Amino acid sequence: MKTIITVFGSTGDLMYKKLLPALTNLIRRNRMNKDLEILCVGRRDYTTEDYIQEAKKQSLDTLEWKYIEPVIKYVKLDIKEKESYSTLNNIIKKNGQDLDVIFYLAVPPNLFPVIAEGISEAKLIEKNDPSRRIVFEKPFGEDLKSAQSINKKLWHYFDESQIYRIDHFLGKDMIQNILVIRFANMIFESTWDHESIESVYIIAKEKEDIGSRGNFYDNIGALKDMVQNHLMQMVSLIAMEEPATFDETGIRQEKVKVLKNLRIDTEDLILGQYQGYKDHDNVDQNSITETFVAFKATINNSRWNTTPFYFMTGKKLNEKRSEIIINFKPNTHVKKLWPDTDLSKNQLIIRVAPEEGIYFEFNVKSAGLTSDIKAIPMDYCHTCQIPDGNVPEAYEKLILDISNNNPTLFPRWDEIETAWAIIDALDKKLPKPFIYKDYDSLKPKLKNLFKEVI
Ligand SMILES: NC(=O)c1ccc[n+]([C@@H]2O[C@H](COP(=O)([O-])OP(=O)(O)OC[C@H]3O[C@@H](n4cnc5c(N)ncnc54)[C@H](OP(=O)(O)O)[C@@H]3O)[C@@H](O)[C@H]2O)c1
Repeated sequence: MKTIITVFGSTGDLMYKKLLPALTNLIRRNRMNKDLEILCVGRRDYTTEDYIQEAKKQSLDTLEWKYIEPVIKYVKLDIKEKESYSTLNNIIKKNGQDLDVIFYLAVPPNLFPVIAEGISEAKLIEKNDPSRRIVFEKPFGEDLKSAQSINKKLWHYFDESQIYRIDHFLGKDMIQNILVIRFANMIFESTWDHESIESVYIIAKEKEDIGSRGNFYDNIGALKDMVQNHLMQMVSLIAMEEPATFDETGIRQEKVKVLKNLRIDTEDLILGQYQGYKDHDNVDQNSITETFVAFKATINNSRWNTTPFYFMTGKKLNEKRSEIIINFKPNTHVKKLWPDTDLSKNQLIIRVAPEEGIYFEFNVKSAGLTSDIKAIPMDYCHTCQIPDGNVPEAYEKLILDISNNNPTLFPRWDEIETAWAIIDALDKKLPKPFIYKDYDSLKPKLKNLFKEVI
């Protein structure tokens, strides 16, 4: 069976910077079907040779073109014209009947419905056919209403099992590792609740500003760009119950239950906007879009009801760092054994980016003749385990799973809908963002909620 991956928006940043490198690496690693064609759909007047030349200019890293060049074909189409989809159908049909066809929409979300309709009406995808799948990039809508409206259209044309909604955080190795750390280790699973865990911090800090993405970002902000998707996905994996089965049904079923029980404490919501944000092109001079958000949430179920979950994400901060910090409670019932010593609390940190690994702090007797107790770290470097240092990118894992028709790492519609409902509920209660010069200037605001981690 031949695989055809058709990318709409093949002249965009996502294709050049993420998808082409991921596809190249998958071919190099022998993880793609040997019989593969990548149809790069665009409105620009390119030949395949022109397209490859342009892509070579744009993909500035050390892309190994010899792997991908032979399988690329550029197809010039106007995606708003119905006939374009018949043309595409004819191109695909030339490859015979025995095909696995993936349609990847790397375009702005306002084009999702028109492309979905074109694909469906030209019978490029028919319902109940698992060999035809369609992939949507984030953001999936701008709020609950728009997401529901997009989704309604998609369900008109496709089965849920044919729809892949990307949240690239789920392709990161350490995010996938959360469930292994939790459920494959008795030491953690037996203590993974409010009885043992004092607090959880979910942090995704970025150093970069919005760059030239003013047009997109000013309508979105940090809550919708980061919290609705990446941070909600992280908390659902951290807090979910053990799934009945370790597959897409079992895992997604438990994740959505977490989101349904999650409540954001609006009293403690902190919004910020970095100084100079309004100087970017295409940003409203009176913009109150937040580029930073921090808040506390609770999960109303018997496992978590007294454990606070703290979230922080923002742009133009002191560092790029995504991690999950689990602070265990102090072991107070052994106080009588060491009455004069303040035992450290165990801390587990799941490092997602830029380093990937696990840090765990626990108490030991100090070496030598002393009886002192001290906290020491175990620091596991995940990426160091890969011999050539060639760590697969999140998009590699996600494209591989789409090729293998495995939707486990793709949010199901009810997860997206519930996450939007959480963000929408905040909309009316949002305070005006505080203007911050840098991360240090946010610290006084954060000292109550985040005193342990700032
Ligand atoms: N870039 C990333 O790292 C990233 C990460 C996560 C999610 N995403 C999402 O991925 C999608 C694409 O992002 P991007 O960064 O690649 O955007 P981009 O650089 O602006 O590229 C958009 C692509 O869509 C095409 N396009 C736009 N309007 C069109 C129209 N009316 N008719 C036909 N083609 C049209 C563009 O064609 P032209 O070249 O002809 O303009 C281009 O190929 C967006 O939904 C974005 O939110 C991107």
